[in-house]
Amino acid sequence: MREFERLAAKNKGILSPQIMQDYQQVGKGADGSVYRLSDEWCVKIYPKEETFRKELDALIWGQKSPVVPRLYGHGSNYVVIEYINGITLKKYLKDNKHFSTEIVEKVLYLLDELKKVGFTRHDAEVRHILFSEKGDIKVIDLKRYLMTDRTVPTKLLTGLDKLGYKKEFLEQVKNLQPSRYKEWEPFID
Ligand SMILES: Nc1ncnc2c1ncn2[C@@H]1O[C@H](COP(=O)(O)OP(=O)(O)O)[C@@H](O)[C@H]1O
Ligand SMILES: [Mg+2]
Repeated sequence: MREFERLAAKNKGILSPQIMQDYQQVGKGADGSVYRLSDEWCVKIYPKEETFRKELDALIWGQKSPVVPRLYGHGSNYVVIEYINGITLKKYLKDNKHFSTEIVEKVLYLLDELKKVGFTRHDAEVRHILFSEKGDIKVIDLKRYLMTDRTVPTKLLTGLDKLGYKKEFLEQVKNLQPSRYKEWEPFID
């Protein structure tokens, strides 16, 4: 960590993939590159300042919920956050070939938490929902959570549909929380 702090200070709080080349890259999306700093910490670097701002705001906002990665610090174009050592919902379903009630309940809890913290996007993609080693559910990639208005998890349902688990999921939601299912029903195709 000391070494990383020195590197960040030397570069005046602005990092790039080039500067981070000696660190292990754990992921890369359209908006950022993520590098591992230690067992529990990683850094996400953004080429666009606007995306950095949006995600930083959402991370700050989300600190009151255990489903949002801990925020440890930030520079001018990066955030230092909790590294979630685990598997995505997508991988979980591919490996287990079964959507257990326990996992459905965790997903519904995640959606409840998104609403509770005040995010306007109550949705998450299957590749952005992670289960930690302890089995805790977490959501990553939060740049849209204060921007998009969406109370029905359409991205989640689209992802589950592609994996062949939409029906199984919805049937369980219907049994577990009929009122929630009713809210979603008009938007389900
Ligand atoms: N906190 C984290 N813990 C573990 N892996 C992460 C974390 N944040 C991001 N990643 C990995 O990096 C990838 C890209 O991160 P993401 O936040 O989705 O970037 P983008 O905004 O570019 O889509 C993720 O799909 C995931 O594999
Ligand atoms: Mg992403």
